[in-house]
Amino acid sequence: MIHFKQVSKHFAGKAVVRDLTLDIAQGEFTVLIGTSGSGKSTTLKMINRLIEHDRGSITFAGEPIEKLRAQELRRRMGYAIQSIGLFPHWTVEENIATVPQLLKWPKNKIRDRVTELLELLHLEPEQFRHRYPHQLSGGQQQRVGVARALAADPDVLLMDEPFGALDPVTRTALQQEIARIHQLLGRTIVLVTHDIDEALSLADRIVLLNEGQIVQQGTPLEMLTKPATPFVRDFFGRSDMGIKLLSLGLVSERVRRGQTAQGEPILASMTLREALSIFVARHTQQLPVIDEQGQALGVLHFADLVAERES
Ligand SMILES: Nc1ncnc2c1ncn2[C@@H]1O[C@H](COP(=O)(O)OP(=O)(O)OP(=O)(O)O)[C@@H](O)[C@H]1O
Ligand SMILES: [Mg+2]
Repeated sequence: MIHFKQVSKHFAGKAVVRDLTLDIAQGEFTVLIGTSGSGKSTTLKMINRLIEHDRGSITFAGEPIEKLRAQELRRRMGYAIQSIGLFPHWTVEENIATVPQLLKWPKNKIRDRVTELLELLHLEPEQFRHRYPHQLSGGQQQRVGVARALAADPDVLLMDEPFGALDPVTRTALQQEIARIHQLLGRTIVLVTHDIDEALSLADRIVLLNEGQIVQQGTPLEMLTKPATPFVRDFFGRSDMGIKLLSLGLVSERVRRGQTAQGEPILASMTLREALSIFVARHTQQLPVIDEQGQALGVLHFADLVAERES
């Protein structure tokens, strides 16, 4: 869906993205991660031409992006970021309707779309649509930002640290919301973060950048278990704490009840740390779970292991 071929970007003669080749498949959830200044935001902004690349080619749905008009790009790619917030003098409804307004949708269609999106993001429509951004909490504002990005039903959702500066509880709630939207709507999502656990729990594929170059890309499991270089190992090694915490939890707490999966079942009484070892040994994303009586209980998903705990 989005292809980068040997793309470079220079600022003041210095390469901040170098020779980047990247394929983002339709419906895939890609997370760009890396240290500060590694070129994540620049890479994301080159996709919707907020920044123009200066070498190589970027194509979207088969077309070089420089061939697409800005309005076309905006309609087809939603964009949500942490720092540039909502328009302060516009209501929630007006903020969400930014792109539909540009596209001159009829009023009724806009109103219905705003209602639908507020419900999708668990904001009670009648309570929130007429409020101004300063009348919302930070987490509610970020929800509205995500709703705005989704408004014109874009093919692609680009998000730059959309959950930054949130408390862990709200952050987890919003992450779960995005994961649900991804599953529900099957959108292609590219998300930038520097939060390793966020990357591990949300991504189909992680792309690790350093100094403007891709160091390694792969599934969360691959990044953890087959680091290509010591840099990658150290980078993801920082999530050790999360892995250690798994020793404290039980499979029964994370099992998705009622589901079925192939393979040798594991016991619900096992610790999550033990389950992790089995995931790694078997190179699988799902394990069937049984109780002490040998009755099938459900399925443990790898993604649920690394997801933030509720408490
Ligand atoms: N408009 C600009 N002019 C000059 N230099 C820039 C500009 N935008 C970004 N840079 C530089 O490019 C490099 C990459 O920046 P970028 O914003 O892509 O990093 P990042 O990986 O998103 O970092 P962070 O995690 O801190 O957000 C940095 O060294 C930054 O200073
Ligand atoms: Mg950035």
